[in-house]
Amino acid sequence: MKCAWILLSALVAFGAYYVYAPLPSSISEPWKLMFLDAVFRGTQDLSNLMHYFGFGHHLRVLNFISGYFDKLDAESCENVQVTDTVFDGIQIRIFDPTEAHDEALKRGIIYLHGGGWALGGARTRSYDQLCRAVAEGVNAVVVSIEYRLLPDVHFPEQLNDALHATKYFLRPAVLAEFSVDPSRIAISGDSAGGNLAAAVCQQLAQDDYAVNKIKLQALIYPVLQVLDFNTPSYQQNMDMPILSRYVMARFWLHYLNGNYNFIHPLLVNNHTSFDVNQAVALRERLNWSSLLPSGFKKHYKPVVQRMGTPQVIQEIPAMLDVRASPLIAERENLKLMPKTYILTCEYDVLRDDGLMYAKRLEEAGIEVTYDHYEDGFHGCMIFATWPMYFSVGARTRANYIKWLDDNL
Ligand SMILES: *[C@@H]1O[C@H](CO)[C@@H](O)[C@H](O)[C@H]1NC(C)=O
Ligand SMILES: *[C@@H]1O[C@H](CO)[C@@H](O)[C@H](O)[C@H]1NC(C)=O
Repeated sequence: MKCAWILLSALVAFGAYYVYAPLPSSISEPWKLMFLDAVFRGTQDLSNLMHYFGFGHHLRVLNFISGYFDKLDAESCENVQVTDTVFDGIQIRIFDPTEAHDEALKRGIIYLHGGGWALGGARTRSYDQLCRAVAEGVNAVVVSIEYRLLPDVHFPEQLNDALHATKYFLRPAVLAEFSVDPSRIAISGDSAGGNLAAAVCQQLAQDDYAVNKIKLQALIYPVLQVLDFNTPSYQQNMDMPILSRYVMARFWLHYLNGNYNFIHPLLVNNHTSFDVNQAVALRERLNWSSLLPSGFKKHYKPVVQRMGTPQVIQEIPAMLDVRASPLIAERENLKLMPKTYILTCEYDVLRDDGLMYAKRLEEAGIEVTYDHYEDGFHGCMIFATWPMYFSVGARTRANYIKWLDDNL
């Protein structure tokens, strides 16, 4: 009996320790977020354990478990017609508002979901609901691209899928089939999807045929660079739910198909030290000392190593590829970007990726709308409906939809 009590107390103590993570009081609904984070961490730990015991790749296990909880219950929405199709071999989910309007042609939005290039999908409940809300709120045709995921494919395949599907949609005959106005098309995505959206925009701009085909880009807490894991937001939020710095660095190594042992050099910026010649020039393009407004720099200091680990870039040259890190694009290419909306959250390692990109685009003469949330955390925009409702989730979603409606 006594033994059982000791065991029970130990379990409760362990449970509380596992769930409890000190969070800033100004973050949106900290207690709810703490539990959400514990569920996320628990799922990740379970996936790593299954991987260890040979049940399958941890990303596949993780995607399976999260997919199970994020399954779509046959939900009917009278105002939006949902169809699954294929564009140039790539799975697509189309959200078409059925409500009759005066205008004959509708606006079009290409959407790329987030999830570290590994998780989520156009057909999961979170993204299905988001795209329905956007289609209905903007009265636009939303094309959600089901690009292939890790660990089946790595960089640049996710981007190639996004690019091929986008180019297919932009064909005059395809736009006509969906009654979409060719002069009113936006591209958008969140997190890793924001990375793909920004990269697709830059790639299209290099293409004589496609240049000027996109009217707007809307990037939601995008991932934009792999060269500095010590921006003020990476330092401030390294243990913040639901995306820690360690987990983000691990997603990067997966995406670029690099060796896991490089994670520690990455976290201390050893991959972009002074003895790595190719990286030094690029670091100017993500120099947060000059690109961030002073309010965001706080007391943080740049982390630049004199001597580092040059093997990282030697073995993973994709680290210097602008298609992976849209933030390091040349100014000449940025000048060709469309009008831009960038949403950032205070409690997010990726906050400064977004802020620096906004600043570089502005310096290249592009009109940029910054939309920053002081109580926001990474991923909040998909938590806008029951049972995972956060007030900041609903606010980000409403303002994002309003911006698209006003500008597209
Ligand atoms: C970054 O910007 C600061 C301030 O403008 C400057 O002092 C520093 O030399 C720059 N660093 C690099 C690597 O360009
Ligand atoms: C960073 O590089 C230095 C110099 O090569 C090395 O001594 C140090 O161990 C490296 N740090 C990590 C975390 O890899």
